Amino acid sequence: MKTALDLIAAGDLRGKRVLVRSDLNVPQEADGTITDDGRVRASLPTIRALTEAGARVVVCAHLGRPKGAPDPRYSLAPVARRLQELLGTPVTFAADTVGESARSAVGALADGEVALLENLRFNEGETSKEDAVRGRFADELASLADVFVSDGFGVVHRKHASVYDVAQRLPHACGGLVQAEVEVLKRLTESPERPFVVILGGAKVSDKLGVIDRFLKIADTLLIGGGMSYTFLAAQGHEVGKSLLDLDRLDLVRGYLKEAQERGVEIVLPTDIVVAKDFSADAEHSVVAADQIPADLEGMDIGPVTRETFAARIAGARTVFWNGPVGVFELAPFAHGNRAVAQAVVSATKTGALTVIGGGDSAAAVRQFGFTDDQFSHISTGGGASLEYVEGKQLPGLTVLEG
Ligand code: 3PG
Ligand code: MG
Repeated sequence: MKTALDLIAAGDLRGKRVLVRSDLNVPQEADGTITDDGRVRASLPTIRALTEAGARVVVCAHLGRPKGAPDPRYSLAPVARRLQELLGTPVTFAADTVGESARSAVGALADGEVALLENLRFNEGETSKEDAVRGRFADELASLADVFVSDGFGVVHRKHASVYDVAQRLPHACGGLVQAEVEVLKRLTESPERPFVVILGGAKVSDKLGVIDRFLKIADTLLIGGGMSYTFLAAQGHEVGKSLLDLDRLDLVRGYLKEAQERGVEIVLPTDIVVAKDFSADAEHSVVAADQIPADLEGMDIGPVTRETFAARIAGARTVFWNGPVGVFELAPFAHGNRAVAQAVVSATKTGALTVIGGGDSAAAVRQFGFTDDQFSHISTGGGASLEYVEGKQLPGLTVLEG
């Protein structure tokens, strides 16, 4: 893959209009307040490198899932303000994506200046399943620029106009963020130092099937917590009370347990569970053995013994990948499991392990606990994208850059 740095080194970019696809899909409160600006921060280095090289930078991105038409709730205006604050230089915000406002904002850029276009998904062509519809929108986007830089790692698994089709219409390169993400995921999946310990959590087994499958082949230990762990406990014949349970996947999970045994991969399940009467912060709660969850209670977090077990496995690892919370960390009484895991991963980083947080909820959890990005080797900006990479899927936004 050619990188933006290659283009800069070749001295090609001064005065050129460079369209940069970033992933600025940040979580917000109802009034637009950004609650985690990690993705905006992660997009800065590539934008800066381009402006310093004298390019006229046109950033494009999506926010949320509007339905192909303008919707003020999903405006990128608050993100434009944050981007400007963090860059420390003016960012012109265009009130549309490929219309008059966008064309005049781009036309007014001087060398080294930055514009941000309004939400790409205000146009049905961005996400359309029809090649021709996406293609027409990609033509319009491409007409705004001379060069395309793909830096939105969180969307490289999407076959969208601004990710896939536009790269076929302009000279292109990957940005530093995509490059860094791919490098670390490649190392993790192709040449991990051992022991390689994977922590998997999150609500549903069904979201993680491909990932479990792949890690059974490349990891040494799988620590399973959170909502998905109850299906594993049930597959071993235990009652799980009112905990989340994916009955349709029980046989599949039995198959995973068997495959792990055959391959000598250790699957570690919780041995104690924090249970509660209902899903709320003030629910009465207690700790029970994982094979004795009462019928009227629901599992909310891993228990203290399991926290120790997980931490010990993580401490012994040379490579760690974590995706999905091991408990309901949004509710304070049930955040201990995730905090313990995060702390163990931070300690492992200090002793030189490669530690990767797989984006999404796990990234939100570690930031909520006050850990900073530099306490981990890498916090991915792409939840879905990093999982699909790990699964070994073809990611349209990456394959198109190779072509
Ligand atoms: C994400 O939040 O995972 C990325 O920004 C992709 O968003 P999407 O899942 O709506 O395509
Ligand atoms: Mg998502």
